[in-house]
Amino acid sequence: MAAKDIRPDEEQPGAGPAHVAIIMDGNGRWATSRGRPRLVGHQHGARRVRDIVEACPRLGVEYLTIFAFSTENWKRTQVEVSGLMTLFKRYIKREAQRLLQSGVRVRFIGDRVRLDSALVQMMDNLEALTAGNSLVNLTIALNYGGRDEVTRATQRMAAEVAAGRLKAEDVDASTLASYLDTCMLPDPDLVIRTSGEARISNFLLWQSAYAEYEFIDTLWPDFTADCFADVLSGYGARDRRFGAVRA
Ligand code: IPE
Ligand code: IPE
Ligand code: MG
Repeated sequence: MAAKDIRPDEEQPGAGPAHVAIIMDGNGRWATSRGRPRLVGHQHGARRVRDIVEACPRLGVEYLTIFAFSTENWKRTQVEVSGLMTLFKRYIKREAQRLLQSGVRVRFIGDRVRLDSALVQMMDNLEALTAGNSLVNLTIALNYGGRDEVTRATQRMAAEVAAGRLKAEDVDASTLASYLDTCMLPDPDLVIRTSGEARISNFLLWQSAYAEYEFIDTLWPDFTADCFADVLSGYGARDRRFGAVRA
């Protein structure tokens, strides 16, 4: 069984989550409730990311994966979509040096084909710039959808089978996992969603098979490092059984 697969024996009761994934939701409602355009909510939301990333080492979080833009978010107005794309570029430009100096390794997951080439270039550069870091592994899901990811992985796997480089009967769960965008990451231990919605919205479908979930009412622009610490403090009490019965 590959390292990415379920690891019941490695789970220490009471230990904090090593990999936390966050669905950063509620920016639009945060702005609308203040009579401001939705993009103002996204600007405030983007500013929250720094505190959460920088809180990770003291909270024992080695992997942080954040949902920034879904494959379904293209359905929003052109103004909102292009405003978000501008914001992603601004975030990368503004934070690159600080991320480098804070020991953060940045990776992006999602389909880059639909993103503009200037943004893709900046994503590639940030990944290369921080590739030597290992204190915190920050993964940003941008144009990411769980079904899209599994579909792309399956296409590539099927092409390998057709080319005779992979045998269909050799395909198991770890083979599929190795074709996913997240092939270099452990599965998330805890998925947090802000803003009170209790749904996954196509985030890390395969990887979250045994994740714990926390749905928090706080809107993302109000989600501070203290809120983050509070959510994590409840995690240690959970009994993760992974289908087994604990002695
Ligand atoms: C999350 O906030 C950010 C993105 C999806 C890009 P929303 O924009 O979904 O905020 P609400 O859910 O409309 O309040
Ligand atoms: C999920 O939030 C996507 C991100 C946080 C990037 P959405 O706001 O897009 O999800 P739905 O539409 O409420 O399911
Ligand atoms: Mg939303």
